Amino acid sequence: MRFDVITLMPSMFDALTGEGVVGRAIGRGVAELRLWNPRDYTTDVHRTVDDRPYGGGPGMVMKYRPLQQAVESALAQAGTAKVICLSPQGTAFDQHRARAIAESRLPLLLIAGRYEGIDERIIERYVDEEWSIGDYVLSGGELAAMVVLDAVIRLLPGALGDADSARQDSFADGLLDCPHYTRPDEIDGMPVPAVLRSGNHQAIRRWRLQQALRRTGERRPDLLQGRRMTAEEETLLAEIIAASGDAEQTQEQ
Ligand code: ADE
Repeated sequence: MRFDVITLMPSMFDALTGEGVVGRAIGRGVAELRLWNPRDYTTDVHRTVDDRPYGGGPGMVMKYRPLQQAVESALAQAGTAKVICLSPQGTAFDQHRARAIAESRLPLLLIAGRYEGIDERIIERYVDEEWSIGDYVLSGGELAAMVVLDAVIRLLPGALGDADSARQDSFADGLLDCPHYTRPDEIDGMPVPAVLRSGNHQAIRRWRLQQALRRTGERRPDLLQGRRMTAEEETLLAEIIAASGDAEQTQEQ
């Protein structure tokens, strides 16, 4: 799958492409990443990419022309692409979106802005959607673009060694992940839950699902709100609620 990024800071992406799952996916040709710097499309001696905002106010705005030429060059190579601008004004990027993009395999063109933002006319002319990675303001769209790239690329077939590890992720089925343990079976007085060492695969699966439900209910009850529960999940959740009721009663005594 092809990814293009418009950025004034291409070297930031070395952090993503140098190692790890994404680095290996690119090395193996599962994903292809091309970076386009608007500064390469300037024509003045100062290689100007920003200017003062109309209407006044603090900060600078990324100029239309260098950005537009970088976008046109990327589109000329990529063919049709879904064009996304990273911005705190965008709609929320989440696992559903990551999955939809990974499954579509359509080339993705990401625009990472700097300064106060980019000339709105770029958005009007080229951008299909604006995405935010969370309710906070970063000093540029690069980190947000890398978050999107990582979340999408790891879902591509062949990116992860064990195909199951993406399916079992947090959010893969709308729940947070269960706790994980590895050897030794006891350390600093803390044992691994006995069920995980029982070899009883059915009991382990139930335990993990129940832990995922418990964590999601405690930490992210909003995720449970619109989610359809299986009969087994209802039972496991009822057990958690009954157990926490018992614990409260014991505390009161
Ligand atoms: N650029 C600056 N802050 C951002 C955010 N939270 N999400 C996406 N792009 C951004």
